[in-house]
Amino acid sequence: LELQLNLEEIEKGGYDHFMLKEIYEQPRAILDTYRGRLLADQGLIRMAGIDQNLEKFINANRIIIVACGTSWHAGLVAEYIFEDLARIPVEVEYASEFRYRNPVITDKDVLIAISQSGETADTLAAIKMAKEKGAFVFGVCNVVGSSIARETHAGAYTHAGPEIGVASTKAFTTQITVLSLIALKLAKEKGAMSESKFHEYLTELEGIPSKVEKTLESNKLIEEIAEVYKDSTNCLYLGRGYNFPVALEGALKLKEISYIHAEGYPAAEMKHGPIALIDEEMPVVVIATKKGHYEKVVSNIQEIKSRSGKIIAIVTEGDKSVKEIADHVIEVPETSEPMTPLLTTIPLQLLSYHIALMRGCNVDQPRNLAKSVTVE
Ligand code: G6P
Repeated sequence: LELQLNLEEIEKGGYDHFMLKEIYEQPRAILDTYRGRLLADQGLIRMAGIDQNLEKFINANRIIIVACGTSWHAGLVAEYIFEDLARIPVEVEYASEFRYRNPVITDKDVLIAISQSGETADTLAAIKMAKEKGAFVFGVCNVVGSSIARETHAGAYTHAGPEIGVASTKAFTTQITVLSLIALKLAKEKGAMSESKFHEYLTELEGIPSKVEKTLESNKLIEEIAEVYKDSTNCLYLGRGYNFPVALEGALKLKEISYIHAEGYPAAEMKHGPIALIDEEMPVVVIATKKGHYEKVVSNIQEIKSRSGKIIAIVTEGDKSVKEIADHVIEVPETSEPMTPLLTTIPLQLLSYHIALMRGCNVDQPRNLAKSVTVE
């Protein structure tokens, strides 16, 4: 037993928990994921699974993304990226719903299945159904040789390395990295994006690992914020556009490991319900980075403030307006809008980690949850 414990300590590489280690591994994991694929100096993206099936993607009527849990959130980010950059219509579905709702699928559809483990039963079943109906099925998996990797026609691995913490962290950001590469490549091949814009995005994506590194420097501040809110019973997460899925993911992280009830919402939908919940007991995490409806999010923050809600805002470095109204601000470096989720996610992972830890929860193995869900 002692030997086993020592082995685990070694695997944690000096970190207290796998989750924290995996959060800190993200700069490296993102780099490993685009290494050899993103060739910024040559102005190229090289991905065998896409190169060999380019026609299928270019001629697709639409892309259907299926996944569960955190991978589904990565799918939602991908919907924004694919539609915005590559101008391909996208639908994102929970695999468990998709497989049972008799969906219309044709051989002009491309289905992308996203799964860290590559073993999720519902995602696997959705793939099998789509294949039977003639769709081209592409996998984005982390575990090499997994069932989903084998069952799909083609795919692209994330190179996150083993993820042990049940709550997914580096798998999420590497999934977004792979999906961004695919979207950019298709945008270029379709002629949906100018050459100069394409180069700009390549350079920006290449710089993301060092910006993640910079974001991780807020850890101490986030720990202090966690101390203030650790006893909350509810928490609301708001974001718009590219950062709406990040709000969902932030809320999922908190509920998974700290057992605090948390909900993610598109900021503009607040007035259609959640605003009724806001009082001085309600912390609201708002993603308010400079691009993408910034002014509108600022006015949402004012609405929360006027109802005495507590505001934790994720802002772009150097922000002034939000700083004046929010109770706490966490800065992330500036980047182009489609890449903001890769940065804004980081503080939310750390916030849930610290809160869970302070509440005495088992961060790496939360109650009732499994890392890989191989049954329905
Ligand atoms: C479980 C895990 C989640 C994960 C989801 C989908 O619920 O606890 O962290 O996001 O399954 O898993 P997959 O391996 O398909 O990405």
